[in-house]
Amino acid sequence: MEAAGGAEPAEGAAGGREEPQPVSRTLVDSALEILDTADPDEKARLGDLAAAQWLRGEIPLPYDPAHPPRSPPDRPARSTEVRLLPPSRTPKLGKGGSAQSRLALLHSLAHTESWAVDLSWDIVARFGAQLRMPREFFDDFARVAQDEGRHFTVLSARLRELGSQYGALPAHDGLWDSAMRTSHSLLARLAVEHCVHEARGLDVLPTTISRFRAGGDEQTAKLLEDVIYPEEITHCAAGVRWFRYLCLRSCNSDPTASSIPQAIIAQCSELPRDGTINDNKIEVVGDGQTARFTQGSNGHDKTVQLVEDGMAQCKLSDFRDEDEAAVIHTFHSVVREYFRGPLKPPFNTEARKAAGFEPAWYEPLAVKEVEKQEV
Ligand SMILES: [Fe+2]
Ligand SMILES: [Fe+2]
Repeated sequence: MEAAGGAEPAEGAAGGREEPQPVSRTLVDSALEILDTADPDEKARLGDLAAAQWLRGEIPLPYDPAHPPRSPPDRPARSTEVRLLPPSRTPKLGKGGSAQSRLALLHSLAHTESWAVDLSWDIVARFGAQLRMPREFFDDFARVAQDEGRHFTVLSARLRELGSQYGALPAHDGLWDSAMRTSHSLLARLAVEHCVHEARGLDVLPTTISRFRAGGDEQTAKLLEDVIYPEEITHCAAGVRWFRYLCLRSCNSDPTASSIPQAIIAQCSELPRDGTINDNKIEVVGDGQTARFTQGSNGHDKTVQLVEDGMAQCKLSDFRDEDEAAVIHTFHSVVREYFRGPLKPPFNTEARKAAGFEPAWYEPLAVKEVEKQEV
């Protein structure tokens, strides 16, 4: 029989309350291991394995609420064979008109993909448990991480085919500097890294593809065009999807969510958290199911069920068209606060649209070409 407010506490051999046992390896455990792995090939391989196991259901839980995971590292482990320079000191890549320039472009792309692997696992490890994100959040970013690892692997292999290798040239650390500025807010992380930066990748990739093609490197052009470009659209889509979701479940306490209509907040009033975290502990309050877990659960199946119950359940299908303007307004506020400078046109409107990233989201944040000409 269930006690008021939760299940009966489990009794240990000495008659006292039995501590919840650690569950088997979780997705967040894997994410932390990958972030601690310096070798970029091994980082991609472990990421592919973890994502595949998660998506096949072989890793049953995203995290263990009874044993909160440690914080992810401020900076993921990186190979010392890749020399990192400040962005201002990184050699110019050129426009692909020479074999040397095309190698530099390819090296830069591989570097970006390797950082993207870390970014994808960082969002899982840093925010997934703390904000009790639903299972679909872990699904989406495990898929993104798996894609990014594959992108790094094919570009790194292409570098070797061309007689070079990842690490042969210096690279810059600007991507992670940007990520660190949003390490306290999932809303800001999604807006800047997973919407603005992913969409910027979509803007520039067609030009990069044509530069390889014009230089006679059809093989690299095809890799970018057929493998990487379509998947990058889905990454931007994940950023937009989860930004919208977080707005949907935001609470009044988040100043960045002040423009979210009360109707949206009321739809998900049982959810305790917005996108801002102040510490590294999982909060197990404000929800009967999660509180029940903390009072005593020692069976694996029961643990799985209770974690499932404890995760946020808000559905994006509850979202109404008239709420979109408020979400977009919040997006503008967050990007203006966390992204340095205006967004740069021209935009790849078609690819952005395919990702659900409509002009209303980004055009008000842009410098108009005409304004740039007047300066
Ligand atoms: Fe990628
Ligand atoms: Fe991506």
